[in-house]
Amino acid sequence: MPAMKRIVILISGRGSNMQAIVERCRSEGWPAEVVAVLSNRPGAAGLAWAAQQGVGTGAVDHKAYASREAFDGALMQAIDAQAPDLVVLAGFMRVLTPAFVAHYAGRLLNIHPSLLPAFPGLHTHRRALETGCKVAGATVHFVTAELDHGPIVAQAAVAVRPDDDEDSLAARVLAQEHVIYPQAVRWFVEGALALEGNQVRQRGGAEQAVLAS
Ligand code: GAR
Repeated sequence: MPAMKRIVILISGRGSNMQAIVERCRSEGWPAEVVAVLSNRPGAAGLAWAAQQGVGTGAVDHKAYASREAFDGALMQAIDAQAPDLVVLAGFMRVLTPAFVAHYAGRLLNIHPSLLPAFPGLHTHRRALETGCKVAGATVHFVTAELDHGPIVAQAAVAVRPDDDEDSLAARVLAQEHVIYPQAVRWFVEGALALEGNQVRQRGGAEQAVLAS
């Protein structure tokens, strides 16, 4: 049997994507284990859930560090103590330094609640509605130095409804995040992703797009 892949998940709050990954990893018997959930916010709700599930947890409070570099250095130490094969950003709301991103190059995934390259940054659903978009969605991508860019692993698109507000749209997109993020992490730990330049191919030919309504 191949060695179990070690996954560290970083969160800042609720952690619903983290939960989806932990649950599917266990229920589907991936060749992987979520060895730790770490947060920059000691009070993050997701930490309590992870601890209840018997997953190791930790916090590196960004407020205790004078600079982004110092915080990222401490975070890297906490992550590397777990010897991860993959680091998963799941609602981790900190901008990472180039040194951090370089250290985890090729083993750092993020989910962003828009159809990148549209709407990098914050308030994606509000901006999509203000723009009059008829389609919104979420993107799983490898992290590179440029914020919310990087090779795209999977995307889910949802139709924008005439009566949508920010919350209703966010909820429908989040439901699809819980589909594509566990799927993407599973592909990674199974060695099913091939990174060729800026393109990510699923070796088994699986669909990397979800079109929801
Ligand atoms: C998710 O919608 C995720 O896409 C978004 O934060 C939410 C976290 O929810 N991430 C970003 O905006 C990153 N820039 P969760 O804590 O319940 O997974």
